[in-house]
Amino acid sequence: MTERTQVGIVGAGPAGLLLSQLLALRGIDSVVVEIRSRAYCEARQRAGLLESGSVDLLRAAGVGKRLDREGLEHGGIYLQFSGERRHIDFRDLAGGRTVTIYAQTEIVKDLIEARTAAGAALEFEVSGTEIDGIDTRRPVLRYTAADGTRHEVACDAIAGCDGFHGISRPAMPARALTVHERAYPYAWLGILAGVPPSTDELIYCRHDTGFALHSMRTPQVSRLYLQVDAGENIAAWPDDRIWAELQRRFALPGWELKEGPILEKSITPMRSFVAAPMRHGRLFLAGDAAHIVPPTGAKGLNLALADVAVLADALTALVRDGRDGPADAYSATCLDRVWRATHFSWWMTSMLHVPPSGDPMEAQLQLSQLRYLTTSRAAATTLAENYTGYLWPRWSS
Ligand code: FAD
Ligand code: DHB
Repeated sequence: MTERTQVGIVGAGPAGLLLSQLLALRGIDSVVVEIRSRAYCEARQRAGLLESGSVDLLRAAGVGKRLDREGLEHGGIYLQFSGERRHIDFRDLAGGRTVTIYAQTEIVKDLIEARTAAGAALEFEVSGTEIDGIDTRRPVLRYTAADGTRHEVACDAIAGCDGFHGISRPAMPARALTVHERAYPYAWLGILAGVPPSTDELIYCRHDTGFALHSMRTPQVSRLYLQVDAGENIAAWPDDRIWAELQRRFALPGWELKEGPILEKSITPMRSFVAAPMRHGRLFLAGDAAHIVPPTGAKGLNLALADVAVLADALTALVRDGRDGPADAYSATCLDRVWRATHFSWWMTSMLHVPPSGDPMEAQLQLSQLRYLTTSRAAATTLAENYTGYLWPRWSS
């Protein structure tokens, strides 16, 4: 079956779904294909913290209603180390900017609902996704739909929004890509717990036995993370052991970490990865398909959304107005912000995690940096400016 669309989109994660929504606002037609089921995409536990630029973009995309109602706005974070907990005040340091807790699962639900209500072509449970002809002006997206029919869609451009393990990046010639990569010698064990958060704002904690983060999803649900060894097996972490380790790392006189049922737990490896350029011919990469950051500082989802704001403009110019300039600038525009976030995530990770070597010199350097951040306005401003989102692309609907 041969069909036609303006933009073929691979992947219905936050990047692919938001791109399809933003293009629709510009009157541009797209087809989104996704290997997983709708239920799986809507339940996959991942990020939860949005920069103010991400919140503004989701509002402009017409999916801000529930976010505005249910999102939890935070004006800062706590840094805990050497038995003390210090506050970093973003409102004061970053010109009034804040961040918002709203789970990636909810963003995906809102976007799928909006696309479905608009009658968009959104195909779940596809297989055999292929991309062809990216060096021509009419690239082709092929896939087998859930009912077994094979489809061939002629496109003006294809957006690879299929995450780190997708097929889009490998569809570019290997010689055209430069890859920078770093693996970290630790991982994050994340839990979702059915207990009200024990804190009003997030706590990033450096402890001699490893990093811990207290985040949240709703006023009734907490999200907590523990540094564990790379390659650690989740079976080695029964619920009692997780709570005992969280209690040990967060311990502070006069403060209590409330425990509750663990609703979900998983271990995420940590890596930094950047593939450049983010475009080859008529194939454009966005989000995790092009870059991965370690989770410390919550940049992964925000980077994906910002890429898409730039890409929607670039594709509008290319396929609707016949202008090449913004598409030609797409990769360089994104990579500037991607490298800033890559540095920030590496820096936050290195400052807060205990390396398996237990190097005492490293420990002193980390503690010195943390004391500097919590006593110098200049140092704290750097953290606040990056955490709340630096270099946000302009979006006008
Ligand atoms: P994805 O969300 O990965 O979406 C890609 C989509 O493409 C998926 O739905 C996938 O099924 C689909 N796909 C893949 N291959 C194909 C194919 N061949 N054909 C069709 N579809 C395909 N970031 C944070 O900021 N904080 C966190 O706490 C955090 N935790 C994370 C935990 C985990 C386990 C992971 C993997 C990531 C985490 N991230 C976190 C990162 C953040 O969730 C990602 O940066 C974000 O999901 C990127 O969105 P995306 O749309 O680019 O990619
Ligand atoms: C969350 C994840 C992060 O990596 C982070 O730095 C802050 C919050 C979260 O999942 O809520």
